[in-house]
Amino acid sequence: MSYRILLSLLILTVMVPSSVSFAATAPTYAKDVQPILVDRCVSCHGPEKQKGDLRLDSVEAILKGGKNGPVLVAGNPGKSTIYSLTVLPKGDDDIMPAKGDPLTQKQLDTIRDWITDGAKFEGIVNKGPEVAAPTGPVHLGPSHIDELASKLNKPDATVVKALADQGAIIVPISDKKTALDVDLSHLTRPFDDSHAQLLERIAPNIFWLDLHGLAVNDSTISVVGKCKNLLRLHIDKTKVSSTGLAALKDSKSLTYLNLVGTEVDDAGLVHLMKLTKLESLYVMNSKVTSAGINKLQAALPKIKIVSGITGISPSTPSAEVEERKKKKKE
Ligand code: HEC
Repeated sequence: MSYRILLSLLILTVMVPSSVSFAATAPTYAKDVQPILVDRCVSCHGPEKQKGDLRLDSVEAILKGGKNGPVLVAGNPGKSTIYSLTVLPKGDDDIMPAKGDPLTQKQLDTIRDWITDGAKFEGIVNKGPEVAAPTGPVHLGPSHIDELASKLNKPDATVVKALADQGAIIVPISDKKTALDVDLSHLTRPFDDSHAQLLERIAPNIFWLDLHGLAVNDSTISVVGKCKNLLRLHIDKTKVSSTGLAALKDSKSLTYLNLVGTEVDDAGLVHLMKLTKLESLYVMNSKVTSAGINKLQAALPKIKIVSGITGISPSTPSAEVEERKKKKKE
């Protein structure tokens, strides 16, 4: 290949992202749409609540839709409930967000134009290495995440790509793209040591980690102990038991932990007693009993434990338990 061809190839590669990917004015997902969802929707459609069985915090989840099916029809805002529910008149029973002010006209236009333009998800990490650093600002998580993340180095792009190639959804949640939301729950092959090793290489950058439903066990869970900045962890429906939870005993930043459907019992909760930042713990369908819950509640007074066991702890949020029950019946 001649030097000239090589050179023009090089120039093309460098230019493609800025010149081709976005139509002149069409909003982009990473820069324009995602911040709106994070700011106004994810509190009810994210890791903590899944109203209408819908999550809007990852590409995969958005494409999956809610209890009534798809919420996004590319090219057709009118048929996309992710948009059509937001333009309902203020006060309408079905308007989204279900609480607070409606979206602003500018936000509505942004979502509409993005859908009209084909609802593209460019700028998202799992589309290849160059998107590992999206071009626009990514104002996602709360500002304390930005603060923590500002001291970190960027995650190794080859690791991010290797994980993304296997179905991981990795989205930056801080200004400088050093803090990551890592969702491995849709891996294309079973979770094993190789995944754990990749995670270890970006451990400081992992702020949110979703491993639910994976073959993570008491041995591979040890990688989570190396994620010193971890704020949220989903290990529901994994093979992790009380023994494995020892790996979390120094996860001092952890605020949210989901252990639903695991074999974890009261002995496992003992490993959590020093996690003073822990705010929410989900233990439905585990082996945990009211005795273990009460002990943890005493050690961590402000923690909210959702157990599905009724009438045990004064701070059991019964509304949420009721909601879960309702969901099960549906
Ligand atoms: C305060 C909580 C709350 C917020 C914030 C919120 N939603 Fe919802 N959302 C709900 C509830 C509750 C339902 C379920 C309604 C039902 O099933 O009757 C729902 C359902 C939906 C559905 C229908 C899912 C389905 O398949 O039935 C869509 C689409 C939706 N929301 C979009 C959004 C968007 C977009 C935002 C942000 C602009 C948002 N929501 C913000 C509470 C919320």
